[in-house]
Amino acid sequence: MGYKVRFEPAGREMELAPDETILQGAMSAGVHINASCGGSGTCGKCKVKIIKGETTVPPMPMLQAWEVKEGYRLACMTKPLTDIVVEIPVESQIDSSVLRRERAGFAKVLSPQDIHQLVGGWTIDPTVFKRYLELPPATKEDNMSDLARIYRALKQEYGFDRVSTDFRAIKKMSKLLRDADWKVTVTMVLTRRGHKLVNIEPGDTVEKNYSIVVDIGTTTVFGQLLNLHECQVFGCPGFDVDGAERYTLAVASDYNPQISYGEDVISRIVYALKPGGLERLQEVVVRSINKIITELLKMANVERKYVSHMVIAGNTTMTQLFLGMNPRYIREDPYVPTANFLPPVRAIHAGIELGDHVHIYMFPMVASYLGGDIVSGVLGSGIFQRDDLTLYMDIGTNGEIVLGNKDWMMSASCSAGPAFEGGGIKFGMRATRGAIEQVRISPDTYEPMIMTIGRARAKGICGSGLIYMVAELLETGIIDQSGKFMHTLSTNRVRKGEDGYEYVLSWAGENAIGQDITLTEIDIDNLIRAKGAIYAGCKVLLNQADMTFNDLDRLIVAGGFGHYIDLEAAKIIGLLPDIPEEKFMFVGNGSLLGARLLSFSKDLLKEAERIANMMTNIELSNFPSFMDEYVAAMFLPHTDETAFPNIMKIIKAEKAA
Ligand code: FES
Repeated sequence: MGYKVRFEPAGREMELAPDETILQGAMSAGVHINASCGGSGTCGKCKVKIIKGETTVPPMPMLQAWEVKEGYRLACMTKPLTDIVVEIPVESQIDSSVLRRERAGFAKVLSPQDIHQLVGGWTIDPTVFKRYLELPPATKEDNMSDLARIYRALKQEYGFDRVSTDFRAIKKMSKLLRDADWKVTVTMVLTRRGHKLVNIEPGDTVEKNYSIVVDIGTTTVFGQLLNLHECQVFGCPGFDVDGAERYTLAVASDYNPQISYGEDVISRIVYALKPGGLERLQEVVVRSINKIITELLKMANVERKYVSHMVIAGNTTMTQLFLGMNPRYIREDPYVPTANFLPPVRAIHAGIELGDHVHIYMFPMVASYLGGDIVSGVLGSGIFQRDDLTLYMDIGTNGEIVLGNKDWMMSASCSAGPAFEGGGIKFGMRATRGAIEQVRISPDTYEPMIMTIGRARAKGICGSGLIYMVAELLETGIIDQSGKFMHTLSTNRVRKGEDGYEYVLSWAGENAIGQDITLTEIDIDNLIRAKGAIYAGCKVLLNQADMTFNDLDRLIVAGGFGHYIDLEAAKIIGLLPDIPEEKFMFVGNGSLLGARLLSFSKDLLKEAERIANMMTNIELSNFPSFMDEYVAAMFLPHTDETAFPNIMKIIKAEKAA
């Protein structure tokens, strides 16, 4: 339950979620408050007065003591403790205007309850687990081999029959057993042929059992560290997955350094075919994953030797490059990958700096341009279990789309470019601390109100901020529907820069990089191309099934481009279709979601293979209509205004106001 906030003199009222600040409330309610430092509390411009109710009183060095005493607060740092009435003083408004409309609201990243709704039929039961053994020492009377002694204990204490053992574990067994006074912990993996003992450690380390999941994207690599032991001990019975989020100990990401050798998968393949190219691409991505692993372990204070398992999802090219497999035939007609199903790979053989007992599970793939990342996303979002017709869109450099339900699934992929991950954008950045993720612009003064991730001083714009930004520029009439700036507006925010016309989002003195953060016409053009490719791909896929967007029961949006995506903004720019809000769900990084769930449950291993087998892939380049759809989508929101009736009403109303 949140608190009611009333903004005066605008007279707008809204309800804030418990962890939201007054500035976030103003953003959603469409009330303009000057906010130029991204919510970091350093510009002092978002000063408001609490005229009724209680709020938190955070440290606010930008305010005088008497101001705090009189009820003044920084809106970006203050949260209500009761229902409140807030007065926005004249100095915190550029004028008395309010933004004309409230935002439709954010599609928030999934809560564990949402995940519960998404995918069912599995129990928390990791493939890799540990068991503690206290063995009777060998004697003349009981002189079976060390390995047989362990097998006997595993059977007597835990009921495991027919266990096999990795030779590496056997090799170190005798000394380790005696050094540890016969008290050891064994790490077991469930394989197709039964349980396999892969590691043996002295003492009781059952509580130290971790997994690392990685999504290798064309532009960004994401990693998470999971606590496998706690999820087993505290996980709820049945398929309740409340623990799925709780057991994620750390999250880290980095740009895929292969980007220096080509922005998309095709240029990476071309580079891989040059002498030494494949080795170079493999080396840089492996180094980046190792860096992420080190960061994750440091963040959670976990020792490397206790990581027992790793799951990796990536598109087909990224998977092959990571494993040093020649990607040549992915690009050559008839476009076939080396293998869709890969056996578990020993981490150290792939150059990953983890114990020699750790194996990597690679998500199965579907086709050359439809990889394990999308299978993972489909697994995590549960499309394969539902009756209702779902469109799953993974919005990234490689836009991947799946249409279907539990009986059938069709998929396609299209190259969108890195704009949604902050690539190819002058001040673009990944969705990390300091990235501008929310923007509102006053339609009267053209002044922005910005909010950054981590409420830090702005460093750049991430994908979700970019979507928000372009929608606001269009709605306020600063750009036209072809993405070109109006030159006659009375504001110094629109100016001619080195790369043509641009809008200044944050002045040099107000941000963390010491130079004006701008959005240029070229950036907008890149975004239009990216969204056009994804929208066109969806249209062709739907046409193939003889359906339209209106036939969908649900549209699941995935992508690592920000914590939030504003549905209305995404519709305004024509990235998402103009269908009812309640049909949408945003799952964040879908590939990581599936990889995480798979780490927690062996039940999902079979499901991942079933999904890869049941998907029919269509090659968009074989459809001349794709180019027509793409050209038609190169407009904001679209050249066919009848496809966006509600959005066009909003845009026209804004123009008329
Ligand atoms: Fe609140 Fe700058 S101090 S936005």
